[in-house]
Amino acid sequence: HSTQKKSYIETLSHIQGIPLLERVVKYWPRVEKFQASEEDLLIATYPKAGTTWTQEVVDSILNEGDVEKCKRAPTQVRMPFLEMTAPDGSSSGLEVMDPPRVIKTHLPIQLVPRSFWDAGCKVIYMARNPKDTVVSYYHFDRMHLYQPEPTVHYSICLVLCKMGILGWGSWYDHVKGYWKERHNKKILYILYEDMKEDPVREVTRIAQFLKRQLSKSTIEHIVQMTAFSAMRENPMANYSTIPDTIFDRTASEFMRKGEVGDWKNHFSAGEDAAFEEHYRKIMSDCPIPIRFTI
Ligand code: PPS
Repeated sequence: HSTQKKSYIETLSHIQGIPLLERVVKYWPRVEKFQASEEDLLIATYPKAGTTWTQEVVDSILNEGDVEKCKRAPTQVRMPFLEMTAPDGSSSGLEVMDPPRVIKTHLPIQLVPRSFWDAGCKVIYMARNPKDTVVSYYHFDRMHLYQPEPTVHYSICLVLCKMGILGWGSWYDHVKGYWKERHNKKILYILYEDMKEDPVREVTRIAQFLKRQLSKSTIEHIVQMTAFSAMRENPMANYSTIPDTIFDRTASEFMRKGEVGDWKNHFSAGEDAAFEEHYRKIMSDCPIPIRFTI
């Protein structure tokens, strides 16, 4: 485990019981009163579930696979992060953008600003199996110089069982919250493992949800553009524009592995069995077809 000292560690504060970075809480009124417009699209995820991938797929669909247009700016400028604030308090840039906007959020459904539901916005929610999610989160905390030190990860299994303590709260509550509302609101619910298994099928689903008619060859082109290997090399999609004072790239990489099942390299058989038992119990009231391998 990492023992490196971080200079800017931020603690977590709470909004309605959900742990969030201190500065997200500090500027919460700005988030709460955000005015969404009907044409805005929200991409919602638990952290490390495949947010950036979904963002790139969506931007590619909206630009009909035009590579140059998708490279007009880095991910966080093209599709700002709703609740995030720079350490100096400046906003993600959302307020100065005109609709239609594509907006990223990690907020659990109950914290999404009301205006999104009042306006009837579409939402794309991506979920990823919790074992790979927490492994990815762990490595991200190691590289992110503002995220709390991952000292809680003495045992990754322990973290899994208590995921409510990580930023943005419990993985379980998060995935269940959007799942339960998917038919009541305009939510397209997609799974990281499904997209990995059959990206043509899933990109087609997303395009249909966005009412974009794309040819088979455009879809195939988008699948290639948004493959892990392509995004890792794309400076406008791989977060290489984030300065080293925020991301310590000697610790880990944002585009780390992009695989299903990396958890097998991190969990002992005992930890895995304990997790499985816990998972089955907690998910028994909500049968989301999440897979741990493909
Ligand atoms: S964040 O910080 O919450 O926005 O991170 P997020 O983008 O949700 O998750 C990062 C993980 O997604 C992987 N990733 C991809 N996987 C497959 N295909 C593509 N194109 C892709 N792009 C990003 C990224 O590598 C992180 O997962 P890990 O397991 O750490 O590699």
